[in-house]
Amino acid sequence: MSETITPLIVGNWKMNGLGEQLSEITALSKELSKLEKQKCKTIICPPATLIRPACSKAGDNIMIGGQNCHAEISGAHTGDISAQMLKDAGAKYVIVGHSERRTDCFETDSQVKAKSKAAIAANIIPIICVGENEEQRKSGNAIDIVLSQINGSIPDDLKGNEIVVAYEPVWAIGTGLVPSISDIDEMHLAIRQALVKKLGENGDKTPILYGGSMKSSNSAQILEIAHVNGGLVGGASLKASDFFGIIATIK
Ligand code: PGA
Repeated sequence: MSETITPLIVGNWKMNGLGEQLSEITALSKELSKLEKQKCKTIICPPATLIRPACSKAGDNIMIGGQNCHAEISGAHTGDISAQMLKDAGAKYVIVGHSERRTDCFETDSQVKAKSKAAIAANIIPIICVGENEEQRKSGNAIDIVLSQINGSIPDDLKGNEIVVAYEPVWAIGTGLVPSISDIDEMHLAIRQALVKKLGENGDKTPILYGGSMKSSNSAQILEIAHVNGGLVGGASLKASDFFGIIATIK
């Protein structure tokens, strides 16, 4: 973990959560308020239907984010949500290019790039997801695949520190499988070098999150790795106690 980048722990609720689950946000905020000093920026990305009420439960120690946005500001796109709408509902971040959307909705790198640009234009921070699948890992191409996703998905004309990158190996998501510490280390270093090459000194300040089966039993070790600046957490973010357990392991 870097001294200069404030860690981010992001909860991705995916398609989970009815109104009653907002009580988890209240409970998490209460736990965080007992800490002498906040260890990280804490972000919850609930389904879009809960963004506005989640903001009112979040207090000043949790920020709320969306899970996807459209690349356009408005228009004839039935069922879609623009970055500006997320901002209007109170979101400060938005996840873009999650592997579930790359798979389920055939999202491409260039679409992810367009969504990232739309988020920045709406003044919210895109959390740009990349990661190899099992076959790509087994064939030894993981780093090449991820770096090509980075190059294709990150806008070229960034002015400052407007993005977060999340490395999520697809085969580790929701499976309980986690790469070895040395594989995470190797990948995050490669991503850092690619970001510096692309963004100059801003690339050194861009948070790089690890995601995929992170829980309190493995987070301490993962969050200690040099270029891991936080986590993107699915299953273990749904219960305040599990999620707080991860935050508590930050040194
Ligand atoms: P998981 O999901 O923590 O349940 O593996 C992570 C993610 O998909 O963001």
